[in-house]
Amino acid sequence: MAEITEHDPGPGAPLLSWPDLADGALVEAEACIDGAQESLIVHRTGNCVRAWLNVCPHAGRRLDWAPGRFLVSREGHLVCAAHGASFALETGECIAGPCRGQSLRAVAVVTDDAGLHLAPPAA
Ligand code: FES
Repeated sequence: MAEITEHDPGPGAPLLSWPDLADGALVEAEACIDGAQESLIVHRTGNCVRAWLNVCPHAGRRLDWAPGRFLVSREGHLVCAAHGASFALETGECIAGPCRGQSLRAVAVVTDDAGLHLAPPAA
């Protein structure tokens, strides 16, 4: 989760730029994490941007039904396309389905004028 700030320039190109981060949208980003290329689920709500690995805690499948295409329930929950687990977008916790009580793995992100970046490693 990251707060959007007016002037917080970060190093390197953003994972996503602001035009890709429409308020309320669920989008995919690719990032290198611990030396591995990973797919991320990114969700922006107003001034808050959250990211998780695109890996379902139930069976390790991607949650999108096609690359970058995510299902959202009528209640506004992210739904895994593989077996239907539902996740709260505020927390990443599975609230219904085969992995109820487990959570998506959060990825620390920051934003700057250019867009979204991985958070720098903790010192
Ligand atoms: S892999 Fe997501 S619900 Fe089974």
